[in-house]
Amino acid sequence: MAPLGDNVVVSNVNLEKLLSMKGGKGEGSYANNSQAQALHARSMLHLLEESLDSVHLNSPEVPFVVVDLGCSCSNNSIYIVDVIIKHMIKRYESSDRWDQPPEFSAFFSDLPSNDFNTLFQLLPPLANYNGGSSMEECLASNGHRSYFAAGVPGSFYRRLFPARSIDVFHSAFSLHWLSQMPETVLDRRSTAYNKGRVFIHGAGESTASAYRKQFQTDLAAFLRARSIEMKRGGSMFLVCLGRTSVDPSDQGGAGLLFGTHFQDAWDDLVQEGLISSEKRDNFNIPVYAPSLQDFKEVVEADGSFTINKLEVFKGGSPLVVSRPDDATEVGRALANSCRSVSGVLVDAHIGDKLSEELFLRVERRATSHAKELLEQLQFFHIVASLSLA
Ligand SMILES: C[S@@+](CC[C@H](N)C(=O)[O-])C[C@H]1O[C@@H](n2cnc3c(N)ncnc32)[C@H](O)[C@@H]1O
Repeated sequence: MAPLGDNVVVSNVNLEKLLSMKGGKGEGSYANNSQAQALHARSMLHLLEESLDSVHLNSPEVPFVVVDLGCSCSNNSIYIVDVIIKHMIKRYESSDRWDQPPEFSAFFSDLPSNDFNTLFQLLPPLANYNGGSSMEECLASNGHRSYFAAGVPGSFYRRLFPARSIDVFHSAFSLHWLSQMPETVLDRRSTAYNKGRVFIHGAGESTASAYRKQFQTDLAAFLRARSIEMKRGGSMFLVCLGRTSVDPSDQGGAGLLFGTHFQDAWDDLVQEGLISSEKRDNFNIPVYAPSLQDFKEVVEADGSFTINKLEVFKGGSPLVVSRPDDATEVGRALANSCRSVSGVLVDAHIGDKLSEELFLRVERRATSHAKELLEQLQFFHIVASLSLA
């Protein structure tokens, strides 16, 4: 295959307009490749519920507002919003102060390029909750939702909601996505230029420190926006990919996902003459898995939030397979998992045809290392429960 011409350069300017998980319900879609995130989220429910126990119960005359930031387009977000609202209903019902729960609003928020259509089609119908029927009746109607839903497009690194309007912010597996690639990492004249690599994993010190700085700048902007939007007495529960190593160029599970077979597949394309080495070097995955320290420094420097909980949580493997002995299934699971989160960026950088070639090579390489992948690929998450200081 001859090298294709230049496609869209995945530059800083358009990352926010471009980034999304693979939409729809096809084989490589996020909706079909997010079972691992679902399992990891379920294993952390006790931490989420603990965080919800600290939320102040306001008068039921005012709607209770829940937001999921980085909701994407699978059932995961809908499941979590349901857990949050059911937990809050129980708290209202057992409270001495209030005799009924308020009405609930849920905002599903993500970048404008997110496939909100798929997400909205997955939403259960609204229960016949018209203020006349009781919340018990409403909850008894199984398979229905007991909240009003809306989508909010925009970057969570900026303001999304009116001041003091949100009771609970939730965000899972999203904050490790940077708002942009640090410019120095894309600048050939800079010592931070990520030559030969498509991810921070295994990169030199200047590259790693540029990624780290970008993560911390982004998290600071996120906290500033949320500190204005959250109601007093509200709570925020955040989960993002994390790492256990102090060295940012050792990205742990994220490093294995984007720094080994994915990296080798890019090198294959270069060696086979399908793309230039420069084309590869200009592609970088805008993800940073922080250490606990990276995260904590930002929350403390910002000062608007009290840390109720901040820990590294072992989430497990991102590969969900029905036959672990079947190397082909493991290889396909890795390629699909990689593609569902990075495919849109890869397509934009090298075009659909070469992207297809790339992920075929990821799959082949992963298939021949299936056993190691199952043994070694583990995700750790940073879990934070914060309330206004
Ligand atoms: C891996 S998905 C997580 C989906 C979902 N929360 C779950 O638990 O399965 C990450 C999501 O974060 C979103 N995201 C990344 N950067 C964002 C930003 N700056 N603002 C809003 N959403 C962002 C992506 O578009 C993507 O949908």
